[in-house]
Amino acid sequence: MNDALAILGGEPVKKDIYPIHTTIIDDAEEKEAIEVLRGGHLSGFSARPGDRFLGGLKVKELEDRFCEYFRIENAVTFNSATSALHGAISAAKIGPGDEVITSSYTMSATSSSILHQNAIPIFADIEDRTYGLDPVSVRDRITERTKAILTVNLFGHPSRLNELKELADRYNLVLVEDNAQAPGALYHGQRTGTIGQMGIQSLNYHKTIQTGEGGVVITNDKKMVEHLQLVRNHGEVVIGKIEHDDIINVLGWNYRLTEVQAAIGIPQLAKLDYFNSIRQKIAGQLTNELKQFDFLGPPIVEEGSTHVYYLYPIRFHEDRIGISRSLFAKAMKAEGISLSEGYMRPIYLEPLYQKKVVYGNRGCPFSCPFYDREVNYKEGLCLTTELLYNKEMITTDICKYPNSEKEVEEFATAVKKIIKNLSSLKKLCE
Ligand SMILES: Cc1ncc(COP(=O)(O)O)c(C=O)c1O
Repeated sequence: MNDALAILGGEPVKKDIYPIHTTIIDDAEEKEAIEVLRGGHLSGFSARPGDRFLGGLKVKELEDRFCEYFRIENAVTFNSATSALHGAISAAKIGPGDEVITSSYTMSATSSSILHQNAIPIFADIEDRTYGLDPVSVRDRITERTKAILTVNLFGHPSRLNELKELADRYNLVLVEDNAQAPGALYHGQRTGTIGQMGIQSLNYHKTIQTGEGGVVITNDKKMVEHLQLVRNHGEVVIGKIEHDDIINVLGWNYRLTEVQAAIGIPQLAKLDYFNSIRQKIAGQLTNELKQFDFLGPPIVEEGSTHVYYLYPIRFHEDRIGISRSLFAKAMKAEGISLSEGYMRPIYLEPLYQKKVVYGNRGCPFSCPFYDREVNYKEGLCLTTELLYNKEMITTDICKYPNSEKEVEEFATAVKKIIKNLSSLKKLCE
């Protein structure tokens, strides 16, 4: 075997490519989808009063199954987690002039949901064990304008949900969990997504279970359910015509899930624990392998929490290996290994927030007459997020089905190869 690093012209450790599919679509999904296709009702929704306002049979069945799985009273399906997040922020009655405190290290849809309601995202830092919102940073950012806390159970590990809930209760705020990356994770015996007033799930194609696209809000709050159902399906045309509690008016969208998607979601949900167990097994093997390398720190699983490893985050200690993260990542990628430097750029550094241009060119919602503050999105706002993004974090997605021990071994072999050839790699920088 040619021992030279692939980045220096040698043979890569991994010669094949990673499999595409991350879920099993088998007879169960086919049967469900065909049943809908043959029945002809590809969507069960209608935007008028009556039973169809709440969707078709498969949508309702999927919602029931979510309730059973999450041990919660209500589930409202959406056509993505992005629309589900928007629905949740709307149901929390967030609007112009309001602030919502959210994570600075997440996928863009988390904070976009706040802008979609013409409200102001206030980015708090994450803490460096769970990578969820840091309760201390959240507390520092609470003002009289704060209406909600939107935390993210990032990479598959619960945030510090008890502390965040305690803050939310103390300041009378709504706590929402973006649980898109952590379906099935446990937090002191409860499923994540059920500790906040609303929890958001994603069913997009790269999540643990999927319907191509799709999302769900779960909640025990009856008032939220009603609002969520209205915003999902053109609520403005049924207000005044159906029974509802104290909702005066609502602007809705078409955020409806099709019957085919919902039908596929039913057997998918039944496989969630199985997929998570595969992720946990592969992650356990990877954690074991990483013990040999002091410069690569495995993710921490907090007491009382389980991790479902949507991604596997690694702490990179440059001082212990003597090369930059960037060079290490390039060398690993050249060996054919799937990994990324950091995760998403700190959200507030994206042009949308730097330029503060969201709707048209009049500065709305930042220069809205209802908002008289100057919001801070400057570099240095969230130091842990910036440190992880710029220097200390590596993420890999190899812990998912249908990967196995083989991919873990390839990962470890590539790291060993880099260590063995460290001096020639270092010369690259001279
Ligand atoms: C944390 C988080 N929130 C929201 C979303 C949006 O999900 P969807 O693609 O279902 O809209 C994602 C998708 O990657 C995500 O990772």
